[in-house]
Amino acid sequence: MSKIFVDACLRKETPYTPVWMMRQAGRYLPEYMEVRAKAGNFLNLCHDPEKACEVTIQPLDIVGVDAAILFSDILVIPDEMGMDLEFIKGFGPKFNDPLETEADLDRLIGGEEAANKLTYVYETIKLLKQRLPEDKALIGFTGAPWTLATYMIEGQGTKTYNICKKMMYSNPEFLHRILRKVTDVVKYYMVKQIEAGADVVQIFDSWAAAIEPGKYDEFSWKYMVEIAEYVKEKYPEIPVIMFPKGVAAFIERGGVYGNFDVFGVDWGTPMALAKEKLGEKYVLQGNMEPCRLYSKEATTQCVEAIQNVMQGEGHIFNLGHGILPDVPVENAIHFVSECQRVSKK
Ligand code: CP3
Repeated sequence: MSKIFVDACLRKETPYTPVWMMRQAGRYLPEYMEVRAKAGNFLNLCHDPEKACEVTIQPLDIVGVDAAILFSDILVIPDEMGMDLEFIKGFGPKFNDPLETEADLDRLIGGEEAANKLTYVYETIKLLKQRLPEDKALIGFTGAPWTLATYMIEGQGTKTYNICKKMMYSNPEFLHRILRKVTDVVKYYMVKQIEAGADVVQIFDSWAAAIEPGKYDEFSWKYMVEIAEYVKEKYPEIPVIMFPKGVAAFIERGGVYGNFDVFGVDWGTPMALAKEKLGEKYVLQGNMEPCRLYSKEATTQCVEAIQNVMQGEGHIFNLGHGILPDVPVENAIHFVSECQRVSKK
């Protein structure tokens, strides 16, 4: 049976434009909160394939999206490379041993050996393959090396990225060594997710906008492209989605290149600009401002405007970044059904 989401990624004819939401499994769903409470904490939930599988499927049943995204986190990668990760309630992720010296980096496990430690992720994918309806696609994912490196270097989320940027401008060789090591793990990680059963993979570069446009290729995009091209060479039929958030200036100056299938458009980038610059080469995903979900009217207006630009051509509906925890579930359901309504052929 064909999967409408995979078909759309490959620019095949579909009955309507498929839709999913970044961070669709999570705290806005009371059913998620229940499973997380049983798991004890967020990382336990990521490590438990049965429970991770359950929360992956929740948004399909409750919200009606056309694809599932593996429940995990981008930061399990540096965690399994040997860093000490904690998720602190009300604060977010924290590495207790951020990378400061060459020796800190050399201590970390690299390559296939690190990717092999993420067994719970592959187990979750295998369970999902048995339990997902045949017409729903499963999206695997990773963080981009740059976004992962920001947490590995700063130890936590940051507003200024000053520690990473100090390294970028005063010791770029060391930053490149970190990015190289992470890239080499992620290449294996992506292929292993696909071999476990992921139908599509997405690379999240959530903190792309922290890099000035003229440096973005050097410190992030080229590593993302290397990962995408490694996947496409081994599995040409598996769609790869790139999501660099906040890169309108990089798109405008013609910086986007590489062998992948879908470009995820963030909410700060006009869909018409993305279509003009990228629409011929790549299917576009996105890009409603996630806060529009607080209002059903604002949601419908935006869904119609996006549909007017894309006219169902080479398009997947999504938010321009993740859904927030205090969005009413019924508004998320409204978004999904509006996307399906306006694009029905
Ligand atoms: O439904 C899905 O999208 C799948 C699961 C998923 C999570 N994290 C679960 C999660 C995915 C794809 C991610 C990716 C992720 N994680 C990114 C890239 C995507 C993006 O939104 O930009 C980033 C930057 C992270 C790192 C991370 N994880 C942060 C900064 C935080 C804390 C902030 C927050 O949203 O709470 C997390 C925790 C996290 N990851 C939660 C979930 C459901 C919340 C944990 C909880 O249950 O309290």
